[in-house]
Amino acid sequence: MSIVAGVLAPHPPHLVYAENPPQNEATSEGGWEMLRWGYERLRRDLQQVDYDVIVVHTPHWQTYVGTHFLGLPHFKNKSVDPIFPNLFRYNYEMDVDVELAEAISEQAAADGLVTKMMRNPDFRVDYGTITSCHLVRPQWDKPIVCMSSQRSSAFYNVDVTTAQATALGRATATAIDKLGRKALVLASNSLSHRHFTHEAPVPEDMTNEHVHTYMGQLWDTRLIEMMRAGHTRELVDIMPEYTEQAVSETDAGTLTWMLSALDFPTIPAELYAYGTVIGTGNAVVGWGTSPAQPRLSAGVAP
Ligand SMILES: [Fe+2]
Repeated sequence: MSIVAGVLAPHPPHLVYAENPPQNEATSEGGWEMLRWGYERLRRDLQQVDYDVIVVHTPHWQTYVGTHFLGLPHFKNKSVDPIFPNLFRYNYEMDVDVELAEAISEQAAADGLVTKMMRNPDFRVDYGTITSCHLVRPQWDKPIVCMSSQRSSAFYNVDVTTAQATALGRATATAIDKLGRKALVLASNSLSHRHFTHEAPVPEDMTNEHVHTYMGQLWDTRLIEMMRAGHTRELVDIMPEYTEQAVSETDAGTLTWMLSALDFPTIPAELYAYGTVIGTGNAVVGWGTSPAQPRLSAGVAP
């Protein structure tokens, strides 16, 4: 088998806060409904997709020497968002498909990338992974593979990140194929990422929520239209300019990794929602991979 679907699954902790799951200590009166309703439609469509593992690449586990992978079968701890501890104090428990993580790590290493398995049982999983996985599948009944984002853009530039993320995406798909997994791949990142520096007295009061900059709006719209048109190679071509102009979280290579793992789909992506969180742009976008059902929504032709 292989990769059966891919999702751009942004991770603002506000979205989990607004849903009031039992794992989160903070409670809310809602908020950010357009994004949350989009995730709801995504979850409904994913009920029609058969997969046995979730593979996620995250901007918030940042490594400066190589790509690291969770390397133990079970993790349990509390995740507290360093910026928003008032919103996100989440008690998580998750299983890891270590065999697949090792296979991706080994394939990537064979392809020339630096990789490392993370075997520390006290390691706290980053909130990007937790939030994206929760919003896509809150049951936590599938094992995950979680890989860090190697920060080439900090030392070099987005071009280097793009080259390495593209190679990592190819290695991911190759390892999934070799092991015969049916994998859902997640890119856990926002789009434009300029954000407000002050929090409203009631965070979920949506009268305060809007895109931070017109520049961010224009660039995000351009990127989303490219996804909807199936122009994903062209999207990666403009990634350096987009990332700089939109001050985007794509600097982690996360979206590039996923598009490479999906072999740069030309089928139109399904846009489930676009909305802002503290001014950042966030799109929930899905790609099917089956020729019989290229889009996640059943019965919709490309
Ligand atoms: Fe983030």
